[in-house]
Amino acid sequence: MLVKTYGSSVYGVDALTITIEVSVSAGNKYYMVGLPDNAVKESLQRVETAIHASGFKMPRQKIVVNLAPADIRKEGSAYDLPIAIGILAASHQIDADELGAYFIMGELSLDGCVKPIKGALPIAIQARKEGFKGFILPNDNAREAGIVNDIQVYGVNNLGDVIDFFDKKRTKPKPIEVNTREEFFKHINNYEQDFSDVKGQENIKRALEIAAAGGHNVILIGPPGAGKTMLAKRLPTILPPLNLQEALETTKIHSVAGKLSAANALMTERPFRSPHHTISDVALVGGGINPQPGEISLSHNGVLFLDELPEFKRSVLEVMRQPLEDRKVSISRAKFSVEYPASFMLVASMNPCPCGFYNHPEKECVCAPGVVQKYLSKISGPLLDRIDLHVEVTPVNFSELSSQRATEKSELIRERVINARKIQELRFSDKEELHSNAQMSPNMVRNICEINEQGQVLIKQAMEKLGLSARAYDRILKVARTIADLDGSEKIEISHLAEAINYRSLDRESWAG
Ligand SMILES: Nc1ncnc2c1ncn2[C@@H]1O[C@H](COP(=O)(O)OP(=O)(O)O)[C@@H](O)[C@H]1O
Ligand SMILES: [Mg+2]
Ligand SMILES: [Zn+2]
Repeated sequence: MLVKTYGSSVYGVDALTITIEVSVSAGNKYYMVGLPDNAVKESLQRVETAIHASGFKMPRQKIVVNLAPADIRKEGSAYDLPIAIGILAASHQIDADELGAYFIMGELSLDGCVKPIKGALPIAIQARKEGFKGFILPNDNAREAGIVNDIQVYGVNNLGDVIDFFDKKRTKPKPIEVNTREEFFKHINNYEQDFSDVKGQENIKRALEIAAAGGHNVILIGPPGAGKTMLAKRLPTILPPLNLQEALETTKIHSVAGKLSAANALMTERPFRSPHHTISDVALVGGGINPQPGEISLSHNGVLFLDELPEFKRSVLEVMRQPLEDRKVSISRAKFSVEYPASFMLVASMNPCPCGFYNHPEKECVCAPGVVQKYLSKISGPLLDRIDLHVEVTPVNFSELSSQRATEKSELIRERVINARKIQELRFSDKEELHSNAQMSPNMVRNICEINEQGQVLIKQAMEKLGLSARAYDRILKVARTIADLDGSEKIEISHLAEAINYRSLDRESWAG
């Protein structure tokens, strides 16, 4: 008998429908066809053992499993469950009538239990799109799939649960219910950390507020213990809240990477990712034989924090340049290519020199001459070109640290950021894909960030006096525009420019000059 079950394969952040045809006929050999990778080929071994463990029989006949369409490579072990169900139905051990109405996905362990899958969310979206009635998948992924409306999602623990599901003598279990909107609004802005945890550092908070308001990448430079990591971690808390669309986009990427916890159906907080500096190129930007999203995509709609930037491998910083520009990453393979969104704010931190105390108000830098320059040159150039704000962080003193003075909560800062973003949305309303000042091209900067003659003079003087390089010019204008937006000012005033000029430390000739 020939039976069809349905599953899905994920490419990029979208899923395709895969038909699993199982035929059981006279003979005694097993075949698996339709471009399966090794993990899929090994499926029959797991399926056989799991079928036995569940009290059923593996037919001692000719079994052919065909995964269609045949020109698409099938990877991973999540086809175990639809294959097992197909074999049981094709050998008349269970009823096949309802199989056409469901997507079934899950890896089987030898005792018949199911293990979580990757991409449950895009698969559920695909099942709904194709008009399937339901989606049966491992319990651990059920809430993730459950946020898709108009499709019945059933979480199962083992093969036996699925066998029972298709047993007409039994009543069907209740599908999982996730109220997506409720889930979304219940948890939005539910951050554990807050800017009010950081004592003092008003000027750094101000710089981060500007960064958040204009979507500017930022680097924090300062000695160990100055609070760089603490400050960076709190950046998501002052960004505008995710809208439902963004929350779904971000959740989808984490679903594809298999990084959602069972309790967490929908990501309602902006991601904050902080990969270690030993990270590989592939882990950072994505890739691999079976492509997976990297840290830059897991940071989509949130913050990517590269702590101790000069410690990262040069190649890693190089591969990040293009995605930073494009806000997405394309991964090409011989037969296909996939794309992952990667629109994130980059926050980097670094010590000012290898010993950490260059320019420190109290401590002495012990680095040999030339070492500081070499250290900086590791990050200079193209990556640094994409960082609009350079912020020097000095540690707060003891009296500030122990002060009980109340400091501003993230929520208040966020309100100002939201207002500044509204102005930018209006400014760029006729330009698709452009939302914040940081995204302006050099040409647009000249058009949009108009300054008067007095401003021109100020910039020119500052550039000469501080020895700023030419590339600083556009950055200063962009950041000044954001500062003006925070101020609700249509014009860029001298005070806005003057503040923006402060954020170019690394362009200064005097730095390690
Ligand atoms: N301004 C501050 N307010 C409160 N705690 C601070 C402040 N600065 C530093 N700390 C404390 O010092 C610790 C070390 O700071 P950290 O952010 O790790 O520094 P860095 O990343 O610059 O080396 C923090 O975890 C925090 O406990
Ligand atoms: Mg740190
Ligand atoms: Zn030093």
